[in-house]
Amino acid sequence: MEAAAIVLAAGAGTRMKSKKPKVAHGVLGKPLVRWVVDAAHAAGVTQVATVVGHAREQVIPLIEGDTQVVVQEVQNGTAGAVLACADAFAGFDGSLSVLTGDCPLIKPETIARLAQVRDENNAAVVVLTMKLDDPTGYGRIIRDADGQVERIVEQKDATPEEAAVNECNSGFYCFDARALFDALAQVSNNNAQGEFYLTDVLAICRAAGRPVLALPTDDPSECLGVNSRAQLAEATKYAQRRINDAHLAAGVTMTDPDQVWIGPDVVIEQDVELLPQTFLMGSTSVGEDSVIGPNSRLTDTVVGCGCTIGPNSYLENAKIGDDTNVNSSQVYNSTVGYDTHIGPFAYIRPGSTIGSHIRVGDFVEIKNSTIADGTKISHLTYVGDSDVGQNCNFGCGTVTVNYDRAKKYRTTIGDNAF
Ligand code: UD1
Ligand code: CA
Repeated sequence: MEAAAIVLAAGAGTRMKSKKPKVAHGVLGKPLVRWVVDAAHAAGVTQVATVVGHAREQVIPLIEGDTQVVVQEVQNGTAGAVLACADAFAGFDGSLSVLTGDCPLIKPETIARLAQVRDENNAAVVVLTMKLDDPTGYGRIIRDADGQVERIVEQKDATPEEAAVNECNSGFYCFDARALFDALAQVSNNNAQGEFYLTDVLAICRAAGRPVLALPTDDPSECLGVNSRAQLAEATKYAQRRINDAHLAAGVTMTDPDQVWIGPDVVIEQDVELLPQTFLMGSTSVGEDSVIGPNSRLTDTVVGCGCTIGPNSYLENAKIGDDTNVNSSQVYNSTVGYDTHIGPFAYIRPGSTIGSHIRVGDFVEIKNSTIADGTKISHLTYVGDSDVGQNCNFGCGTVTVNYDRAKKYRTTIGDNAF
């Protein structure tokens, strides 16, 4: 059966106390809403729509390209957000997941499982639930005498008995698309917050005689909603542990996994060693036998095999020990992409490609330059907008001057220069 998803990301997130919309805040370098959209794609859904509203000019650039963007002009509640997607899914008759955009740790397999349970039972809705010692802030799952889900009550509308229930609404659901949009037409805003609650759809579907089911999760961390800075830090801790455990299991050494931060899209090969206070962010990848850190930060950087980066080095959008080096194919045809040493205290800025068997030493800054194999730039040097050949040797304190206060010029240095 066809499966699609809606990601809710229109709210302001006032509890964050921020100029930035909540879903644009990052966990391990990736915005909250991106975690959820990526999880939906990984779960194999065919169509994803993301609902934006508050400060949408900051949210749209994060998601456009691989989701349909739907605008909720007035943020009048989660039901209003889903209703804004009515046109986008007008012809759609299948499993439609609704995913809350502020819960970054949802697993793709859980999204897929919700859809599977809905299909198997031809349910109107399956809601993912979790039991919490402290359910403060979450909607409570109210069951009838037979243990069937009757409705969801929001914290602010709950009686003391209802508030004492510790089974909570995760904010992740899979609906029968037609049942969902039919029910949404009946949701009112007659409640403590004066909002249209998506959660009211469950009682409406039940009254219509359709199965309403709950799927309990055994890992409440995947439903952690980020409403405050404290919860943002908590989500980061969980994400760090989940990601680092996977890399440890795959053969990466970390002296202290609590002191290593790795983004969710980073690729690391076997026998890499990560020293404390290392940050690997964005689309970074690290080849076999390389050593990174301590105190180093790599963003969107490709590191080849057997390279050493750090201590105290900062690299952004660079290629290190990389086989795309312009000259590398001539000499190191079969052995490209390894044995390059960067640091300590090196700063490699965007647009730099640094080949194999290279030494970039202390207090060296490289920007938008290619450095061919075997070159040594050992200390106190700036190389900007330059193309440097093979086996060159930079003396201490060298600068490639390239700017005449109007125009920047490229510097070209041939092979074997001193
Ligand atoms: C919601 C649920 C609650 C659940 C919790 C799980 C409702 C009424 N309540 O509460 O039962 O336990 O999530 O995390 O659904 N949003 C919009 N448009 C709006 C309002 C919100 O797109 O008009 C988006 C927000 O950006 C956010 C998500 O919907 O990503 C949830 O909104 P939020 O205000 O955080 O709801 P909660 O109070 O956490
Ligand atoms: Ca929330």
